[in-house]
Amino acid sequence: MMNDSLWYKDVVFYEVNVRAFYDSNGDGYGDLRGLMSKLDYLKELGVDCLWLLPIYPSPLKDDGYDIADYYNIHPDYGTLDDFKALLDAAHQRDMRVITDLVLNHTSDQHPWFQAARKDKNSVYREYYVWSDSDQMFSEARIIFLDSVESNWTWDEEAGQYYWHRFYASQPDLNFDNPAVQDEILKVIAFWLDLGVDGFRADAVPYLIEREGTNCENLPETHAYLKKIREYLNENYPDRILLAEANQWPEEVLPYFGDGTDEFHMGFHFPVMPRLFMSIRKGDRSALQWILDHTPPIPETNQWCIFLRNHDELTLEMVTPEEREWLWKEYAPEPRMRLNQGIRRRLAPLLDNDRRKIELLNSMLFTLPGSPIIYYGDEIGMGDNIWLEDRNGVRTPMQWNQSMNAGFSRNETTYAPLIDDDVYGYHRVNVETQMQTPGSLWQTIKGMISVRKGEPAFSRGDFEWLDCNTRAVAGYVRNLGGERLIILNNLSDQVQTISCGMHGQNLIDLLHRDTPSFQKGQIEFQLQPYEYRWLKVQALWELLY
Ligand code: NOJ
Repeated sequence: MMNDSLWYKDVVFYEVNVRAFYDSNGDGYGDLRGLMSKLDYLKELGVDCLWLLPIYPSPLKDDGYDIADYYNIHPDYGTLDDFKALLDAAHQRDMRVITDLVLNHTSDQHPWFQAARKDKNSVYREYYVWSDSDQMFSEARIIFLDSVESNWTWDEEAGQYYWHRFYASQPDLNFDNPAVQDEILKVIAFWLDLGVDGFRADAVPYLIEREGTNCENLPETHAYLKKIREYLNENYPDRILLAEANQWPEEVLPYFGDGTDEFHMGFHFPVMPRLFMSIRKGDRSALQWILDHTPPIPETNQWCIFLRNHDELTLEMVTPEEREWLWKEYAPEPRMRLNQGIRRRLAPLLDNDRRKIELLNSMLFTLPGSPIIYYGDEIGMGDNIWLEDRNGVRTPMQWNQSMNAGFSRNETTYAPLIDDDVYGYHRVNVETQMQTPGSLWQTIKGMISVRKGEPAFSRGDFEWLDCNTRAVAGYVRNLGGERLIILNNLSDQVQTISCGMHGQNLIDLLHRDTPSFQKGQIEFQLQPYEYRWLKVQALWELLY
């Protein structure tokens, strides 16, 4: 294994839904053994770290983000032994695995909640947040706007209201209770002892509530998160914590603490919708604005960036006008909208236009932060907006053209396969793309491999390049003597730009076979949606 303690800064993540990936036992559900059998595929793509969506026993009212037992595996996915085997197999391949840690809430089926609602005097009563009225914490917003009316739900058996930031089937844990704090530390130790390399910590802004606040990002919440980090620093120093806080960068900043005492990583949510804005407008302004408003983070931290994930494309981090515009452009049919977002996958969002899909991936792999690929996006999978909730972007992985896309030998699968003319598995599948030179899969694999050869992509500084046009997102990534120039033509027009290179040479990183050596003031013609990754050749290289 790589033993660099900052390993997370260099990795390419792959977000995988175990149920959707590969069914090894023929029951119609993907499982851990199935995922294990596909590790070589992921290795070949260039993935270094898997992020597994929740795999715990759960009634699946929120697809596993409603945990009924923190210490086991959902039977659909396998057993703890299967999980250990997966970890071993990944580690043997120099790949890491992080899992979802859902700490803000449990399922209402969790034995703690069952005991709490039955008996006012049970120790578990205080594991949750109760009230005689539904008026407390009224400044806290509702997150699942389409389906949840209040953050309080009356529980007949308990004779009180309980607090929940998500579905009513997900009661919030009471982090003011030291016993709850200890329980979660035990859960963390359990999975770290099994060998996981870290956690994607779900919904961290909401752990603690206080009257008169919006109950997000409170100092008390940070204090507990720091305890978790202290525990890791003392006992598991090479494991990581990734914060899921769908907030503005200045609000995420405190989650990094001083660089050593809270999270290692945090998602950069607001970059994502602005990538979609920029490419639709052919103008980098929105992207530039958010990156210019992103404060520097400590050396030991890193952002995680992504194009899509298992949720709706969230539009919480844009203005109401921008949201309306994004909905109009990207979700013309009402069914495409969900909560404050859009339930579509990457390829359909980009009109299945190969140039646009590549361009957004070009930015994913070159902007500051560690990139996360959402399973299936590497082959341009489609979605099914008619499935409930966010299930339309969680359909079975498309491996080949055989029955059920090679995902399962069972007649029925947990969700229908995508089988339409454009995105159906007869056209869009792994096997075909792996065999076809120039396929999207091959292109993404190429991008990842180039990224890995140039540490400036993962650790370098970032600087905008003045390209004389806002249609081009041009920037420089610098690390020591290494200097990379990235040009992304966001528009559907040819753009001509020039770079003053002061007599230095440029190498085109994506076409190493035909390097373009040029000198002095360089003019580039970028075709619509074209991107170039260039390396300024160091003087010493010229001597050889
Ligand atoms: C964020 C997760 O990404 C989402 O899928 C889930 O519904 C909520 N947190 C609640 O756990």
